[in-house]
Amino acid sequence: MTDSLTVRDNRTGAEYEIPITDGTIKAADLGQIKLNDDEPGLATYDPGFVNTASCRSSITYIDGDKGILEYRGYPIEQLAEKSNFLEVAYLLIHGELPTKEQYENWVHEITFHTFVHENVKGFMQGFRYDAHPMGMLMASVGALSTFYPESRHIEDPDNRHIQIVRMIAKMPTLGAWSFRHAQGKPYIYPDNELSYAENFLSMLFKMSESKYAADPRIAKALDVLFILHADHEQNCSTNAVRSVGSSQVDPYSAVAAGIGALYGPLHGGANEAVLKMLRRIGTKDNIPAFIEGVKNGEERLMGFGHRVYKNYDPRAKIIKKACDDVFEVTGVNPLLEVAQELEKIALEDEYFVKRRLYPNVDFYSGLIYEALEFPPEMFTVLFAIGRTPGWLAQWLELTQDKEQKIARPKQIYTGARTLDFVPAEERWA
Ligand code: ACO
Repeated sequence: MTDSLTVRDNRTGAEYEIPITDGTIKAADLGQIKLNDDEPGLATYDPGFVNTASCRSSITYIDGDKGILEYRGYPIEQLAEKSNFLEVAYLLIHGELPTKEQYENWVHEITFHTFVHENVKGFMQGFRYDAHPMGMLMASVGALSTFYPESRHIEDPDNRHIQIVRMIAKMPTLGAWSFRHAQGKPYIYPDNELSYAENFLSMLFKMSESKYAADPRIAKALDVLFILHADHEQNCSTNAVRSVGSSQVDPYSAVAAGIGALYGPLHGGANEAVLKMLRRIGTKDNIPAFIEGVKNGEERLMGFGHRVYKNYDPRAKIIKKACDDVFEVTGVNPLLEVAQELEKIALEDEYFVKRRLYPNVDFYSGLIYEALEFPPEMFTVLFAIGRTPGWLAQWLELTQDKEQKIARPKQIYTGARTLDFVPAEERWA
């Protein structure tokens, strides 16, 4: 077997041999296929990169047919059950699990960088009373680049490290303050005696008590949710981080771009849509009629289906378990019953079976967030906090990848050519 592709150009009859590596061909190799030397060579057209690899990466592996998700080779199920978010963040960034000493240093570093400059607080207080927390998060992460101007020296490994630590550490502070802002409540400073998730909950919900004590089951569930969202290879926001990072800008600006991408409803907003759908269905009796409507193409069953997973999204299974833990504390969200019945019916229905539509990560996450009293605008902020180590691991990989170039796709030009410009005073005369 030869690892190559023979291409015959039927326009000219010429044949070309193009090497196949890792199941891909190099798009640039197609450039040699041309009608004559004056023309640009053949290119590929792939809006949304549905079949184009943009990088080599050793961070996250997904097998959508089998429902497998691994970070640095470790199955998500094992990490969610036996690890914690900061250890997973270390794994994503460094590529290997930490020794005891490395872990303790890492947790210490992250914990002691949770505070932000007071001017950041002043900056955030300048937002309108009803500012969307994602807009506030995106702007304040971008603003951090002005507080750490040395972060532009991305060629320096020590410098890269400290910016990574700062960003993972400060994201919950900025996220929690965005939440408090809309409620007109004072911003709460980090408490360095608490774990990552406990500290976040404290900054979100603390009022006049001297110390906020989160229920350990809630803190654990939140930590697991962060783990589940920590990376998902070349999704829209990660691609944004890499694309902006490829200009060699500082990492705060690159991650701010990722937050912008996540803000969009096609990426981070589906769990809110699931809640709305469940509320509309209301009771189990209404499910058959709703399913009929979906099958007739009137609407989609939100929280079902995925571009990559054609099997049960492994994260959805873990979230289902986290639901039980959270509802033990908060009381059951009445919509859970509707969701479970909906899932049961859909998984047995030929329409969904044939199309390989299974619950995705968003089917149950909104129910948990609602039980924790988060307004829907905060759902995506939670996603962003969890995704930060993934964005940074991908950015770090990019900065060290000799094959990477500044992102600059081609286009197929469809506009006018060589028009003669007539000055306004003549055109309007
Ligand atoms: N409900 C009903 N039918 C569906 C659904 C759904 N949720 N998802 C896909 N289908 C059907 C389509 O109508 C299509 O049927 P057809 O072949 O008869 O036309 C077939 O399944 C294939 O669907 P596509 O839209 O081609 O699949 P694609 O991979 O492009 O879409 C997507 C994936 C966008 C996630 C889709 O499944 C969907 O809209 N799901 C609901 C929204 C959702 O839950 N999004 C969250 C995704 S997870 C995340 O982003 C973190």
